[in-house]
Amino acid sequence: MSENIDKLTELESRITSVPGIEDRSTLENLKKELLGKTGTFQQLQKEMKSIPKDDRADFGQKLNDLKNRAAEALENRFRELADLLGEDVSDLDYTLPGKKPVPGRLHLLTKTIDKILGVFRDQGFHIVEGPDIEDEWHNFEALRMTADHPARDTQDSFYLAKNRLLKTHTSPMQIRYMENYPVPIQMVAPGYCFRRDPFTSRHSPTFTQIEALMIDEGITFAHLKAVLSEFVRGFFGRDTRTRFRPDYFPFVEPGCEIAISCPFCKGNGCRVCSMSGWIEILGAGMVHPGVLENCKIDSKKYTGFAFGMGIERPAMIRYGIDDIRHFYENDFRFLGQF
Ligand code: PHE
Repeated sequence: MSENIDKLTELESRITSVPGIEDRSTLENLKKELLGKTGTFQQLQKEMKSIPKDDRADFGQKLNDLKNRAAEALENRFRELADLLGEDVSDLDYTLPGKKPVPGRLHLLTKTIDKILGVFRDQGFHIVEGPDIEDEWHNFEALRMTADHPARDTQDSFYLAKNRLLKTHTSPMQIRYMENYPVPIQMVAPGYCFRRDPFTSRHSPTFTQIEALMIDEGITFAHLKAVLSEFVRGFFGRDTRTRFRPDYFPFVEPGCEIAISCPFCKGNGCRVCSMSGWIEILGAGMVHPGVLENCKIDSKKYTGFAFGMGIERPAMIRYGIDDIRHFYENDFRFLGQF
């Protein structure tokens, strides 16, 4: 009997400690320990049988009182703690399961870049990144865009200081790579680009490109066609066709512009492709011998190709997005869809 009385005294002191408990999980554990299915009260109730008949009623009464006090003290403390946290708990049910947190996710552009890089990684390309702030040598001069070159106007740039500008394309990574790695070269470089363009549905002063460069003995235009066609089929679908047309960039010769058959109308002509059946996605060409020489690579021995591709356009095509600004405005209603 005295043993059981001891237990009651111990229970009393547990109950007296309740108002001093400072966090909900300790309180929750205590509630389980005392009032749970296999809790102290339940156990003591089972042990009632072993108590002498004369004392049993008295013990039962005390036990019951304590149980009510415990429940009340716990309930009050839950309420107080919730008040401290500023929650309205008037009709809170503590037994309900918790709310699922909404996990973060990758931005659609990041996902698109990862996917594109994956296609090139599978073809053995080394993935590298470069600085956003460039000097004129890497952004222009080494790429044969001299100060008086008209191509420099078409990439109206953001200058931070003399000879320091935000890179206008990812092509400076060609130069940096050739300066730092020996031939043979097979690299892709994703990066932000910055140009003084208005912020409209089709243009943005910040956009993303992926640059590719492959240099070795005997690299020809056929390699360029093979690598790009494989990328287009891997990214847009196996039945997508590619169109190569001559274009001019100072750092390639010959240069070309590449379009894909419109994935929406399969080349028949629709609103997305302005009824032409084709969508231009990138510029490319054989690296100009002058660029190789600028990077101390023997242009008699080595040849190579390069291309630079915008990311927003392919992402817009693939996911049916009609305004480039969606990528940068960080509206969760838009971002949450992908
Ligand atoms: N840098 C060019 C641009 O931004 C694209 C390009 C890259 C063209 C490599 C040819 C070769 O327009």
